Amino acid sequence: YRRLRVALLGAGSVGSQVASLLLRHGAELADRAGASLELAGIAVRDVDAPRDVDLPRELFTTDAEQLIVGADIVIELMGGIDPAREYVLQAINSGADVVTANKALLATHGPEIFDAADQVGAQVYYEAAAAGAIPIIRPLRDSLAGDRVQRIMGIVNGTTNYILDRMDAEGADFADVLAQAQALGYAEADPTADVEGYDAAQKAAILASLAFHTAVPLEAVHREGITSIDSSMIDAARHAGYVIKLLAVCERLAASDGDGESISVRVYPALVDRAHPLASVHGANNAVFVQAEAAGNLMFYGAGAGGVQTASAVLGDVVSAARRHVAGGVGVAESTRANLPVSPIGRVITRY
Ligand code: HSE
Repeated sequence: YRRLRVALLGAGSVGSQVASLLLRHGAELADRAGASLELAGIAVRDVDAPRDVDLPRELFTTDAEQLIVGADIVIELMGGIDPAREYVLQAINSGADVVTANKALLATHGPEIFDAADQVGAQVYYEAAAAGAIPIIRPLRDSLAGDRVQRIMGIVNGTTNYILDRMDAEGADFADVLAQAQALGYAEADPTADVEGYDAAQKAAILASLAFHTAVPLEAVHREGITSIDSSMIDAARHAGYVIKLLAVCERLAASDGDGESISVRVYPALVDRAHPLASVHGANNAVFVQAEAAGNLMFYGAGAGGVQTASAVLGDVVSAARRHVAGGVGVAESTRANLPVSPIGRVITRY
């Protein structure tokens, strides 16, 4: 097989699992990809920091820029905007394809990154950036490209679903369950991103952009978190036949002035009828309920958080990138509009 150099940036809960799976299943992935995937190195801030899994020490480096040089595929799992943005742009400009789970980066700098990729014919893969292990990016981008998505209702943050679910099932206390979610590796480094809805808002912006073929900026997403939800509200909801879930709702709406359509994207704790499929999403699981004009209702369900689960989505992207290299597509922009197209709808509003 042709050898492809893979550079990994970040060895947190997802990154360390990606490295471990890549080393363990390398031969099998090579057969699927038609190329051998050589892990050239793992860039981290601190080589000696404790990791979730044991990895060969010689793979670690603190020099991300150097590691990117000569890489065919760069996997960015550092999170945050800086320096992830600089490294992703460096990777693209040096001709690598990029695989990233970085929702914050895509939700805030998506157009810049996709434009840079288009210019050099690189591809950016981000199946792991929303809803963890659940395949949702490709279904929205590709499988439903011939349909018209009307609405998405998503449980896209595992930590808050875990918290609300434990509060509902056990009457557990908010702070205790948050500590459990952190111990289980679901929560962001700063759990404010989870409980205040920032993480879900970033994912909502990404999903809405794909579903409605328009670049939805993060600032256009209405956001409320779950910190004001207490057990009395959860009890009242239960008695009325509902469960409280943090939902990301992305909808296509007729414009109020009757002129065309607009889009509404909002994240808020919602009352969900206990008979709705979203009500039975327990623990840290995620689900994305999609209503499309022709396809009708679809639901995508599974693990939305967790290192090894999210690593599955990352490695699927790595195999896709490798196949593209083997097929000779590198340097040729794939459908550029598939990445993050500019709006035919023309405007984005928030309504709630
Ligand atoms: N903190 C996120 C969550 C991790 O709880 O869903 C996955 O993005």
